Amino acid sequence: MAGQNCGVTVALLGVLLLGAVRLPRGAEASEIALPHGSGITVFIKPKTPPLPVKPCHIISSKRYKTSLTIKPGEKEVFSFSCHNPENHFVVEIQKNIDCMSGPCPFGEVQLQPSTSALPALNRTFIWDVKAHKSIGLELQFAIPRLRQIGPGESCPDGVIHSISGRIDATAVKIGTFCSNGTVSRIKMQEGVKMALHLPWFHNRTVSGFSIANRSSIKRLCVIESVFEGEGSATLMSANYPDGFPEDELMTWQFVIPAHLRASISFLHFNVSNCEKKEERVEYYIPGSTTNPEVFRLEDKQPGNMAGNFNLSLQGCDQDAQNPGILRLQFQVLVQHPQNESNKIYLVDLSNEQAMSLTIEPRPIKLSRKFVPGCFVCLESRTCSTNLTLTSGSKHKISFLCDNLTRLWMNAEKTISCTDHRYCHRRSYSLQVPGDILQLPVQLHDFSWKLLVPKDRLSLALVPAQKLQQHTQEKACNTSFSYLVASAVPGQDFYFGFFCPGGSIEQIQVKQNTSVTLRTFAPSFRQEATKQGLTVSFIPFFKEEGVFTVTPDTKNKVYLRSPNWDRGLPSLTSVSWNISVPSNQVACLTFLKERTGVVCQTGRAFMIIQEQRSKVEEIFSLEDEVLPKPSFHHHSFWVNISNCSPVSGKQLDLFFWVLLTPRTMDLTVIIIVVVGGGALLLFALGLIICFVKKKKKKKNKGPPVGIYNGNINTQMPMQPKKCQKGRKDSDSHVYAVIDDTMVYGHLLQDSNGSFLQPEVDTYRPFQGPTGDCPPSPPPICSRAPTAKLTTDEPSPGFPAESETKPYTFSHPNNGSTDIPLLDTHEPEEPGE
Ligand SMILES: *[C@@H]1O[C@H](CO)[C@@H](O)[C@H](O)[C@H]1NC(C)=O
Ligand SMILES: *[C@@H]1O[C@H](CO)[C@@H](O)[C@H](O)[C@H]1NC(C)=O
Ligand SMILES: *[C@@H]1O[C@H](CO)[C@@H](O)[C@H](O)[C@H]1NC(C)=O
Ligand SMILES: *[C@@H]1O[C@H](CO)[C@@H](O)[C@H](O)[C@H]1NC(C)=O
Ligand SMILES: *[C@@H]1O[C@H](CO)[C@@H](O)[C@H](O)[C@H]1NC(C)=O
Ligand SMILES: *[C@@H]1O[C@H](CO)[C@@H](O)[C@H](O)[C@H]1NC(C)=O
Ligand SMILES: *[C@@H]1O[C@H](CO)[C@@H](O)[C@H](O)[C@H]1NC(C)=O
Ligand SMILES: *[C@@H]1O[C@H](CO)[C@@H](O)[C@H](O)[C@H]1NC(C)=O
Ligand SMILES: *[C@@H]1O[C@H](CO)[C@@H](O)[C@H](O)[C@H]1NC(C)=O
Ligand SMILES: *[C@@H]1O[C@H](CO)[C@@H](O)[C@H](O)[C@H]1NC(C)=O
Ligand SMILES: *[C@@H]1O[C@H](CO)[C@@H](O)[C@H](O)[C@H]1NC(C)=O
Ligand SMILES: *[C@@H]1O[C@H](CO)[C@@H](O)[C@H](O)[C@H]1NC(C)=O
Repeated sequence: MAGQNCGVTVALLGVLLLGAVRLPRGAEASEIALPHGSGITVFIKPKTPPLPVKPCHIISSKRYKTSLTIKPGEKEVFSFSCHNPENHFVVEIQKNIDCMSGPCPFGEVQLQPSTSALPALNRTFIWDVKAHKSIGLELQFAIPRLRQIGPGESCPDGVIHSISGRIDATAVKIGTFCSNGTVSRIKMQEGVKMALHLPWFHNRTVSGFSIANRSSIKRLCVIESVFEGEGSATLMSANYPDGFPEDELMTWQFVIPAHLRASISFLHFNVSNCEKKEERVEYYIPGSTTNPEVFRLEDKQPGNMAGNFNLSLQGCDQDAQNPGILRLQFQVLVQHPQNESNKIYLVDLSNEQAMSLTIEPRPIKLSRKFVPGCFVCLESRTCSTNLTLTSGSKHKISFLCDNLTRLWMNAEKTISCTDHRYCHRRSYSLQVPGDILQLPVQLHDFSWKLLVPKDRLSLALVPAQKLQQHTQEKACNTSFSYLVASAVPGQDFYFGFFCPGGSIEQIQVKQNTSVTLRTFAPSFRQEATKQGLTVSFIPFFKEEGVFTVTPDTKNKVYLRSPNWDRGLPSLTSVSWNISVPSNQVACLTFLKERTGVVCQTGRAFMIIQEQRSKVEEIFSLEDEVLPKPSFHHHSFWVNISNCSPVSGKQLDLFFWVLLTPRTMDLTVIIIVVVGGGALLLFALGLIICFVKKKKKKKNKGPPVGIYNGNINTQMPMQPKKCQKGRKDSDSHVYAVIDDTMVYGHLLQDSNGSFLQPEVDTYRPFQGPTGDCPPSPPPICSRAPTAKLTTDEPSPGFPAESETKPYTFSHPNNGSTDIPLLDTHEPEEPGE
């Protein structure tokens, strides 16, 4: 049909006379007349699939028809047999425009026949323009322009534009678009097919676009997006979600107001298997000296671009056997430049090792409203929502983000020792590098992984400022705290949260550990000077952890067992080394009456040991009530050893220590002195006790017995037999005695040095460290077992009370050991 008609040129589109009389819906007749040479064909077709109701028919020339085709030069008068034909039929108006054999009719495209002339059916206008390969055809869309939608999406007003082109004979889908977007022009060559779908109720009278001729674009298509202000657009490669045609080129041009910045992010993509060439994207960015900037699809894409730019997707020659699929869906986001976007931060990690810093979006609840992008840019160019900087180099970063509180930073650093001979006693400072602190983004976590050779070395963590353990009773109120946790794979176990401003001087941990500085408030920046921990590699020891606590007067020190809430892991032991200054007395109070632990195998124990005298009290944690508040005049150990508990009946221990000056004891002394007579007896008893004890010490055999495979396997020597009273009043009494004098005198051995028989056996590390945490006894009894006197009076010194009987039961020695001393005050069990 084409050849002759082309002469009509521009006039054709505009002047076409269409005799169509609009009649009311349904029974009323419609008339459609299509002039010769119009190139228009109208099809009235049943909806597919047909409605499963009473059928409706087209009545034309008094005959019932299921479809109707009206060709150029024909006229049809028809009506429908039902009242709602829009539910049964659709109308398709196809116009062929052939530019191959003559000039094309360019200009604004009309809806022909006009919508008012068509029956009120869903209508699809299709313009099929065939053009020579060398001719560029440009579709121009009037405001409100087009918005591309992905597969499965629909347009709110039901108006849909489907645009396709062709490569040789093969149709290529360029995209599906709604009204209301940024796409202003689409350039193609070799023809274009544009389908405009209007729902029957839509009385749109204009096509909304025009066609212009352009010189060849030398690619599949160019899509232009114009932004008038802030906003975003999602765009897709041709044929999306199917594969982009092989070895093709497609370009998007972006027109961005000068005061705004644009950033690209790839939402979804796939790459094919290339035989020749590489699939890539290329950018022309104003101001860039390296245009075109070429990226792989896997790369972070540029952001923070000022001015108009374009982006091209280049395919490759695919492997015929296994072509794969190239496709791309991306977003361009246009927003105001942020203050921070002009500021470049230098993050110098060149002197760091095994460290990485990730700047990423804080997890937030998704909302449906438009959220401007928030990017971190490397060298101000490659921007992404998530950037990881690694140690060993310097990084220049900037931010393109409306609200930097939407980002946070997480860092990780590994400090490992592979050769224990080399690292022994080396120490490292755990500090957040200053270059990280200067960044305008909140540091969330800085995590140090401290790795040591298994069973060779342990770790000592010494904070710059003494630490407080976070507890409910005394919560950390600093802007950050340290989470100390096991870093042994499969061991999900933490020691607790600790923050500056407490009494914990040192935390020693057995093996691989992670220390995480976690911030809770932006004020960390001001408090950052309080951070700082030193880690040292120390000889291996077998307890899970040892806390060195030096309480300050007047402040209760709250301490709780590691892995609080989930319970101390099976068969582990932990100790607290609690210092008591010479003029103070420490009150040790357990907050719960019982621990609640129920053992499946093994026994759970607590040992409280006076460090100087080694006097220890052993409590079963399983069924005994925890000790009542007790007073300690000298530094002491609290050690707990877990059994293998039944699930749900875990071991948690929570206690506090309070120091008070010793002055009050004077009154007690007087009372004691007044009650003098009886004390002589005690003194005598105590001497006996020590004689016995000394004897025992000669019995220095190899460590015997293994309590828990996991913990101190070295046993103390035969447990001490003397016991000290535990009533508060008693404690007051003996507290006034300077026990170095008293006790030391008795213990001096022939060399004149103090006898400290247990030290060698269960001292965990060499070097001039202090005493070591007590170990559980080889065998356990359920009652407080060994109780040993301490602070014994020397003869002639005002004697004081060591008032309670001790019972020492040791199944190996016969379950009822001989009480060595029968004193007049029976001890309350379970104390
Ligand atoms: C077009 O966009 C405007 C503003 O974004 C919106 O209010 C309107 O509902 C949109 N119309 C359609 C048909 O999508
Ligand atoms: C007409 O178009 C509307 C909107 O696109 C659609 O919901 C409806 O199903 C269509 N009707 C027919 C008969 O195709
Ligand atoms: C039809 O068009 C008229 C004028 O253009 C407008 O006032 C009316 O709201 C439209 N009706 C529908 C259903 O869109
Ligand atoms: C567009 O078409 C006109 C007339 O057909 C022709 O003169 C002109 O050179 C064409 N322009 C381009 C860029 O091809
Ligand atoms: C496309 O890429 C995604 C990941 O980006 C992958 O999960 C998916 O399997 C790929 N699809 C194909 C067809 O290769
Ligand atoms: C892309 O932009 C550059 C620079 O503005 C321009 O030279 C080039 O022609 C553009 N390419 C396309 C396909 O628009
Ligand atoms: C940019 O920074 C200035 C001063 O630092 C401040 O007054 C202004 O509110 C900031 N603007 C934005 C958009 O953050
Ligand atoms: C950022 O990247 C890191 C490392 O690739 C990844 O672990 C993290 O989940 C990412 N975060 C987000 C929010 O995507
Ligand atoms: C910035 O983001 C945070 C959380 O993402 C939000 O609470 C805050 O209100 C935002 N501030 C501004 C100025 O939008
Ligand atoms: C601790 O980490 C080091 C290094 O990764 C490893 O060799 C060692 O076995 C780990 N220790 C434990 C107890 O898993
Ligand atoms: C935190 O608590 C300590 C006392 O425990 C108090 O001296 C300090 O002022 C508190 N700091 C803040 C920021 O509340
Ligand atoms: C116990 O704490 C004191 C005081 O801080 C210290 O001198 C001693 O070395 C510690 N003992 C051990 C075994 O850590």
